[in-house]
Amino acid sequence: MAARFSFVRRLSSSALAVRPRRTIMYVPGSDERKVEKAKSLDADTLVFDCEDGVAYAKKKEARSLIVRALEQMQFGRSERVVRINSMDSGLAEDDLVEILRAVNLPDAILLPKVETAEIVARFQSKVESLIPSDVTSYPFLAIVESARALVNIKEICDAGTRGKVHLSGLTFGADDYAASIGAVRTKSSSEVLCARQLVVMHAKAYGLQAVDMVNINYKDLEGLKAEAQEGATMGFTGKQVIHPDQIPVVHAAFSPSLEQIKSAKNLIKAFERHQAEGKGAFTYEGKMIDMPTVLQAKNVTDLAKAIGD
Ligand code: COA
Ligand code: MG
Repeated sequence: MAARFSFVRRLSSSALAVRPRRTIMYVPGSDERKVEKAKSLDADTLVFDCEDGVAYAKKKEARSLIVRALEQMQFGRSERVVRINSMDSGLAEDDLVEILRAVNLPDAILLPKVETAEIVARFQSKVESLIPSDVTSYPFLAIVESARALVNIKEICDAGTRGKVHLSGLTFGADDYAASIGAVRTKSSSEVLCARQLVVMHAKAYGLQAVDMVNINYKDLEGLKAEAQEGATMGFTGKQVIHPDQIPVVHAAFSPSLEQIKSAKNLIKAFERHQAEGKGAFTYEGKMIDMPTVLQAKNVTDLAKAIGD
């Protein structure tokens, strides 16, 4: 029986092998009040931003405030990530030199405007030259946010998943993407549907997390709820957020309910029973159950375990 169960484990998506990132919360790195406020926020991941949330004239200030935050502030259970400027901005090298000098390294780097495998390789080699040599593995997340990035997404994943500085998630930037193709953002988001599906598809093919777009209408929590539930249904593992009020709404959308967890556990038990009896497909609660349904149930129990439910 144990051997059969491990068969399920092996087949199940490995995207949750890393910590859950249901919410990736941006905190402008130059805004002391918001960096302080982040200490009390319950986001899975806090992203201290050096890029678009920071005015050009404040880049230096952002770097030193972020280093101070990493070295001296406590952010509870939240993962601490830094978004640097893009590799072609002329700012990324200085961002990395300053940020990776911190005594407490960020838990990961978020790299925006990743368009080619060459950009990934340049980033990886710069980071590798700056982190202490005894750090054997260092994660980053890539933001895919242009037509060019979508066309090159497989090569980006190939390059990112090689080596010590390794890709652990793909993040979708809807507004930059829409601008890159000349689309108009609408409430339905139909103009970015194909791109979102491609991001999820590639992330899952490479065992990575897939993080959905920001909803900039941060006062419309009903709209956010619907969009977050849609993202979860599509296979995203989390969503980027920009305001504290968005955190609980997005957590709820990306967390299984107690009922779903109970049902998933029962389904896995029923599967094991039927496997022991030599049966493949079987009926459970009026539905046909075979391996894909069992793997989905396993995703639910893995996530519940990771978030402590
Ligand atoms: N990080 C940390 N704290 C935040 C925050 C954030 N992203 N957004 C708001 N807060 C804090 C505010 O400082 C305020 O705290 P206080 O009560 O201690 O003063 C509280 O949450 C309520 O904020 P509110 O007054 O409703 O919003 P605001 O006018 O201060 O800010 C935005 C609104 C949109 C400017 C702000 O949410 C923001 O900067 N978001 C991030 C934008 C960003 O990073 N964009 C780039 C990535 S897409
Ligand atoms: Mg962007």
